[in-house]
Amino acid sequence: MDIAVIGTGYVGLVTGAGLADFGNGVICVDIDQKKIDALKQGKIPIYEPGLDKIVSRNVSDGRLQFSTDLPEAIRSSRAIFIAVGTPPKADGSADLRYVEEVARTIARYMNGPKLIVTKSTVPIGTGRMIEKILTEAGNGHKGTVVSNPEFLREGSAIEDFMKPDRVVVGASDRESVHLMQEIYAPLHSLEIPFVVTNVESAELIKYASNGFLATKISFINEIAVLCELLGADVQDVARGMGLDTRIGPKFLQAGPGFGGSCFPKDTSAVADIARRYGYEFEIMEAVLRVNDNIKQRMVGKVVDALCGDVKGKRIAILGLAFKPETDDMRDSPAIPLINGLQQHGASIRAYDPQAMKNAGKIFESVTFCHDAYQTAEGADALVIATEWNEFRSLNLERIRKLLQQPVIVDLRNVYDPRRMQSEGFTYVSVGRADDVVKRKPLWRER
Ligand code: UDX
Repeated sequence: MDIAVIGTGYVGLVTGAGLADFGNGVICVDIDQKKIDALKQGKIPIYEPGLDKIVSRNVSDGRLQFSTDLPEAIRSSRAIFIAVGTPPKADGSADLRYVEEVARTIARYMNGPKLIVTKSTVPIGTGRMIEKILTEAGNGHKGTVVSNPEFLREGSAIEDFMKPDRVVVGASDRESVHLMQEIYAPLHSLEIPFVVTNVESAELIKYASNGFLATKISFINEIAVLCELLGADVQDVARGMGLDTRIGPKFLQAGPGFGGSCFPKDTSAVADIARRYGYEFEIMEAVLRVNDNIKQRMVGKVVDALCGDVKGKRIAILGLAFKPETDDMRDSPAIPLINGLQQHGASIRAYDPQAMKNAGKIFESVTFCHDAYQTAEGADALVIATEWNEFRSLNLERIRKLLQQPVIVDLRNVYDPRRMQSEGFTYVSVGRADDVVKRKPLWRER
């Protein structure tokens, strides 16, 4: 099927390349001429493992092209995927101006029946709003709106697109469902479950899923605080919880709080939607509050590791992106961490395998280094803020020699406390009380 994907950000680019790989003819459209020119030269503007290969394969096979000509893309497509940004406004609600603009352009240039698919995460009711725009400003052609939320994780977006746990389709008529099954034919034949429901339910499935995942993270982060107070080990607690099939082991990794372009935005959006309809979504409000508190708590953890005073101290930060395998800094826990430590008088050296360019636009007076060892040079403490694989196998002897003081604060629980103690470090982590290090676990294989 001929498809237009509007917006070439994380979601739009992966969706466009993925749909082309499924055999559809896809035009990815953006207003940013520079971005489109770069894509036409095979340059991918974001770091997403595997995206460059799938884009170049489909471009050379003639199934994927890039353009800034939205009217032409609308005219030549049967289905139009809206994948433009819905950034949070100051009050936490989603800013829909880009979605509205696209809807009006579609209404203006429709030249036959069109399937309009909302791929971006949009507030409940957006599908109806688009339908209204199409009817009022339309030119008599039929535009049917379908909600098809994405569940892509940055860093594994291609895999998540190719092998999703489910495809959610919110539609109001059978023909639209059949068209979606045709678009996603390879998944349909792979027996990937299709959840077919109405538009509002599909829009809510996305928010509810992200809201629940964020809840799991804030929950385990508060359990980690309890572990530190009680002398328990949060990784054992998470393991013991996760083996309960009703809970599941995923998203129970304690850390410095969640970041990214989705969890913070989607949790505040769903709380905002509830508030607009007169309901206080208390759990979502609490999840957000806890997340902010946990991020701030990490500053205190580093200050405490240096006996309560970091004034004039040099602190090395490994990892800046909100998670590994991405260059994305949006809402990264590293941002409040570095700002907080600088407010306490520390000077910061930092390194990240992919996010340095984006970090350079955010931080002032941070010394950016080219690897973990240069970052550690002369530092009074080393902080692991993002669990990139290359930080999992540091040469600890070399690190200890480079540091002024053998202090490591591991916000991602990458290392084993007992091993770190035996290597001569003052080792602080998340949810693993120091005295666990002293107590020999009788049975646990490490
Ligand atoms: C998320 C959802 O997973 C995805 O389905 C949705 O489409 C977009 O938002 P993403 O934000 O890319 O994906 O990353 P994810 O892997 O979910 O991690 C989000 C944040 O939670 C990161 O900051 C990560 O470090 C943190 N996290 C994740 C934890 O702190 N603990 C965990 O156990 C898992």
